[in-house]
Amino acid sequence: MPVKNSIAEMHKEITGWRRYLHEHPELMYDVHETAAFVQDRLKEFGVDEITPGIGQTGVVAVIKGRQDTKGRVIGLRADMDALPIHEATGLEYASKTDGKMHACGHDGHTAMLLGAAQYLAETRNFDGTAVLIFQPAEEGGAGGKAMCDDGMMDRWNIQEVYGLHNMPGTPVGQFAIRPGALLASADEFEIKVTGKGGHAAEPHQAIDTTLVASQIVVSLQSIVARNINPVHRVVVTVGTFETDSVASNVIPHTARLKGTVRTLDTENRKLAEERIRRVAEDTASAFGATAEVTWEDGYPVTVNHDQETQYAIDAAASVVGDQNIDVNTPPILPAEDFAFMLEERPGAYIFLGNGDTMMCHHPEYRFDDDAIPVGSSWFAELVERRMALN
Ligand code: NI
Repeated sequence: MPVKNSIAEMHKEITGWRRYLHEHPELMYDVHETAAFVQDRLKEFGVDEITPGIGQTGVVAVIKGRQDTKGRVIGLRADMDALPIHEATGLEYASKTDGKMHACGHDGHTAMLLGAAQYLAETRNFDGTAVLIFQPAEEGGAGGKAMCDDGMMDRWNIQEVYGLHNMPGTPVGQFAIRPGALLASADEFEIKVTGKGGHAAEPHQAIDTTLVASQIVVSLQSIVARNINPVHRVVVTVGTFETDSVASNVIPHTARLKGTVRTLDTENRKLAEERIRRVAEDTASAFGATAEVTWEDGYPVTVNHDQETQYAIDAAASVVGDQNIDVNTPPILPAEDFAFMLEERPGAYIFLGNGDTMMCHHPEYRFDDDAIPVGSSWFAELVERRMALN
């Protein structure tokens, strides 16, 4: 496949970085070693500027093109954090830390962006500025939002932003993308139900919190079935159900439900929240109990901008050819921290084929190093095409 020749020559070196990162996974914002590794490589490449400590442990680097006639700035983002999973791949470069694993391929994303950085710092065949964004805490910690909250977009005058994620099941050498919603919002809710505790043999003297909470769990499933337009995609899942009773002969006084909501647009996100509050409160009230709903906003919907999606497709096409890009892949319901960056700037997020392996977050998941030159070339192509020399 026509990846950039000089990036193909770096394949072994980038794979070495990737495997080193794989052996040394770090979680959430605690990515100090990874950030230090990234900075060391960037220094070796001779990039123009390196700023650590953005969004706590994120790293921002700047590479200037050989011209800057229009003041254009393109942001490229990779995530650095791993997962609290015990690795079961048996690979020779498997995690050296029990209970931590790069099971989502962020080691690959970081290595691929470093590969692009090395190429861009060497060649500088563009008119403008490339800003490299290495973020912490993608896995539930909103590290991308933390970097935005630190003023990253304005401070570096980033005008467009692009990111990628490896995709198991899609062959290496292929891409998948779509304009509009690509990944879901992920919010969390908690429902505290308060009835009236009592003796299990005297239910008429109590308000059975277990029964009330069970009715709420069942009724919540009517939201997707009866309130959401059936052609839309929404998930409402209750993951935790606990009561304050530990005895079989005690009716509990309180119960706690915790769950998550996934949607692909803000209207359904709002509707789901409203309906969860109403169903929980009014169901509890019907039994003489009360329900208190706490809602916590998580990652928003990842929405690709139309024009930038086309730029992402054009860059991918120059690497793998039109026939190897699914330009209308169906959306999926995991969530992505990159969504916050797409709320601040136009941009696009693309899936990079990772071949036949277990899905991300599985202890036997493997990142395929053959995807490296494809991903690095895509990043580099974006910069050279969006900020082409005259
Ligand atoms: Ni991931």
